[in-house]
Amino acid sequence: MQAYTDTNLGTKLFLLRALRNPRQLGAVAPSSRHLGALLARHAAVDDHSPIVELGGGSGSLTRAMIKSGIAPHRIYVVELEPTLAAYLKTAFPQVNVVHGNAAELAKILPSEVVGKVHRVVSGLPMINMPEAVRGQILESCFEIMAKGGAYLQYTYSPRSSINDKTYGLTKKRLGTIFLNIPPATVWQYTRE
Ligand SMILES: C[S@@+](CC[C@H](N)C(=O)[O-])C[C@H]1O[C@@H](n2cnc3c(N)ncnc32)[C@H](O)[C@@H]1O
Repeated sequence: MQAYTDTNLGTKLFLLRALRNPRQLGAVAPSSRHLGALLARHAAVDDHSPIVELGGGSGSLTRAMIKSGIAPHRIYVVELEPTLAAYLKTAFPQVNVVHGNAAELAKILPSEVVGKVHRVVSGLPMINMPEAVRGQILESCFEIMAKGGAYLQYTYSPRSSINDKTYGLTKKRLGTIFLNIPPATVWQYTRE
């Protein structure tokens, strides 16, 4: 079996996929460690509940969450692109990597996780997606969350990529990271 231990390999795979399918990847570069650190800080609400990461890509957010002290076995990374999912499985053997669609979380995540998730951290290119797909993904996320759970999303525009009113959500801006290509703003969405 091929070993993917080189973190640069993740970046190379990411860039190759970005060239082939720019709309699905939705980024010109993996997230910076500064963006990862901000998301990780808001993802860790306790020291035990599962955290779901959508669109793992080359693993930059996963790496940042582990570096911030989140135990790898608590992290469930969902990635649609098979080559990137295979890379993530080998690069993060203790993380739960699921090859599948973020719009089908209740179906693809282990049943013991469903209803117990307090934070979903998303690297998905929501802005590139049709409104119907965006809606399916958000419903899928709130379906697996515990009461009081939140969806965290970064955007490359200072504006929210999700219309909170359409989905009955409350949004909050958590911060903007200029040390990222391009600069990114992190949003938190909750549903009462
Ligand atoms: C912008 S990249 C984010 C990569 C990484 N999280 C980061 O921040 O550097 C978006 C990732 O989402 C994945 N993706 C797109 N649509 C998806 C879906 N419906 N379900 C799961 N993953 C998806 C893409 O294949 C890609 O790897």
